[in-house]
Amino acid sequence: MVALCYTEPLHPAPRSAFDRIRRALLVTVLSILIPPYLAYAYLFQRSFIDPIMSAAKRESIKLDPKYKNPDLLKRIWSTKVGKIYLESDLEYQCQEGYCSSATMRNILKSIGISSLPPPRSGASTPLKYAQAIDKASNGQTTSSIVYGSEGYEAFMCTVKKANDPNYRVAVNFLRSPLFGITQPSYLPINFVLALFGGHFSVIVGYLEDEDLVAVFDVNHTYGPYLVDSKRLYDAVNSYDKMANNTRALIVSQVNISN
Ligand SMILES: *[C@@H]1O[C@H](CO)[C@@H](O)[C@H](O)[C@H]1NC(C)=O
Ligand SMILES: *[C@@H]1O[C@H](CO)[C@@H](O)[C@H](O)[C@H]1NC(C)=O
Repeated sequence: MVALCYTEPLHPAPRSAFDRIRRALLVTVLSILIPPYLAYAYLFQRSFIDPIMSAAKRESIKLDPKYKNPDLLKRIWSTKVGKIYLESDLEYQCQEGYCSSATMRNILKSIGISSLPPPRSGASTPLKYAQAIDKASNGQTTSSIVYGSEGYEAFMCTVKKANDPNYRVAVNFLRSPLFGITQPSYLPINFVLALFGGHFSVIVGYLEDEDLVAVFDVNHTYGPYLVDSKRLYDAVNSYDKMANNTRALIVSQVNISN
């Protein structure tokens, strides 16, 4: 048997000049609109802001020596599920905002589905993601949602399913509890990203003896990394205003054998 090893998926093309200008305009407009909102939130929504800001003050997981430890990642890629992902050609999101679509495409490919929905700006909440993947898989998956609010034990029970080939697990989380606030943190846009910057990615495995969760982050500037389970839990158990709920894991039971 040929030993598979991880090769970095293709990176998306850099933003075109047009996209860069469009983004700069958007950031400028937001930078004007955001401060009044922040002032309002600071006065009236402290119960939403305070937990997130204190979580974001922790040291970035990038400074943890295990974050991209090659030996530990090698262990992930040599598991049954790890091999399935390697063989199915993992991909990155081709642009910002396409994370739920890229997550879904990676999982659909891993269960052998070849007619994939095109990359796009997809589901924005765990519920919409669960509905979208079950529709796109044509009944080959049955997905359920485990919210952060259900507690750490329920979270771990689901994380462990990531090692079982009969399941696939996606994670919807807030970036800032893992990586902190993007610098410079006084820029309103970075502040707002820290509060609302929800993201979807694939959980590709769990190393029980190390208590590390392996995330394949569909943003190519992060890629595959390892994170302490409690730390990831904090990023999932953060309030999502859009869903009026915490963030969540989405576990898809695979209804076909592979
Ligand atoms: C990836 O993440 C970086 C940093 O958060 C962000 O600046 C960039 O736009 C993202 N790129 C894509 C393609 O998602
Ligand atoms: C958010 O959810 C809570 C509890 O589930 C509910 O009481 C509240 O009315 C909801 N708020 C909105 C704006 O939907």
